[in-house]
Amino acid sequence: MSTDPGDLRRAFGTFATGVTIVTARSPAGQDVGLTVNSFSSVSLDPPMVLWSLAKTSGSRSTFMETDSFAVHILAQEQAGLAASFAQRGVDKFAGLELGRGVGYVPLLGECSARFQCRTVFRFDGGDHDIVGGEIVAYEHFDRAPLVFLSGRYAVAVEHPEAEPATEDEEPFATSTLISLQYLVAKVHYECQLALRPELARAELTEVEFYLLAVVAMAGPCAEDCLLRRVATSGAAVSGANIDHLVHSGLLLRRGSAQEGVRMTPEGSRILMRLAAIRKAIESEALKDFSPMEIGVFKQMLRRVVQQTQPA
Ligand SMILES: Cc1cc2nc3c(=O)[nH]c(=O)nc-3n(C[C@H](O)[C@H](O)[C@H](O)COP(=O)(O)O)c2cc1C
Repeated sequence: MSTDPGDLRRAFGTFATGVTIVTARSPAGQDVGLTVNSFSSVSLDPPMVLWSLAKTSGSRSTFMETDSFAVHILAQEQAGLAASFAQRGVDKFAGLELGRGVGYVPLLGECSARFQCRTVFRFDGGDHDIVGGEIVAYEHFDRAPLVFLSGRYAVAVEHPEAEPATEDEEPFATSTLISLQYLVAKVHYECQLALRPELARAELTEVEFYLLAVVAMAGPCAEDCLLRRVATSGAAVSGANIDHLVHSGLLLRRGSAQEGVRMTPEGSRILMRLAAIRKAIESEALKDFSPMEIGVFKQMLRRVVQQTQPA
């Protein structure tokens, strides 16, 4: 069968894999390593793994000569390291803190798991060699793994239909009845609840807090533009809110409505305090999530915002 290599690569790419870095040390004492997603576990007894090495790889001669290698299953924070070990002709180990394993192979840290292996077979595999190793030592750590899918790095998120991990988790059937809109509104309500007394103390409404935040982000701006920007959040905002902020000494009118308003030092002070409180509330609400999960969460919400925003 003749194949279009690009198309075949795309077909292979639909198989989500983890990402590893395989390292070794040449008999001449040079460290080598490359990013590999063809890794596979093979056998529990004896414990064995395999991976395939491109015949064009600059590290090939080392892996053909040496009998020791180490496989590092990368953690989700290590996409940068994966990209670095997928390069050629550079010193990939520069600046890295290395341990040493069996056969003095370089060991990388911060990964999800690490297998030190003794090479037990090498098979011809077309444009790759298939390298098999018996595990002589291994470790695993409590770090979420990096994923590779369709040519892109990704993170693993639990399937919504997965069996509930705890008894108090909702089963999927009922959770599908709860709309995203309800969940977003509930999160907003709960987070605002703790902010409300602080807003009351500052004699501000929620929408006036948003107005201050927009002026802080955008700099001095025309009043109609300011109102439009805050209104995109769905908040009911009017010129009366700007008047209130001006009368309270938090915003200053620069002249005409076109010239707009700017923040006063008191406005900045109040905004900083409220923003810090809001940040603390958010941090508390998200304390059980990893930075990566928070990133995914925000990325998804941003996509919904883009999708629902009028063109
Ligand atoms: C996610 C990812 C997975 C890869 N998987 C493999 C693999 O399984 N086998 C392989 O030989 N190269 C693989 N590569 C390519 C090598 O990492 C790349 O060609 C590297 O530059 C080889 O380094 P070297 O020439 O110094 O040996 C992969 C690259 C990436 C980004």
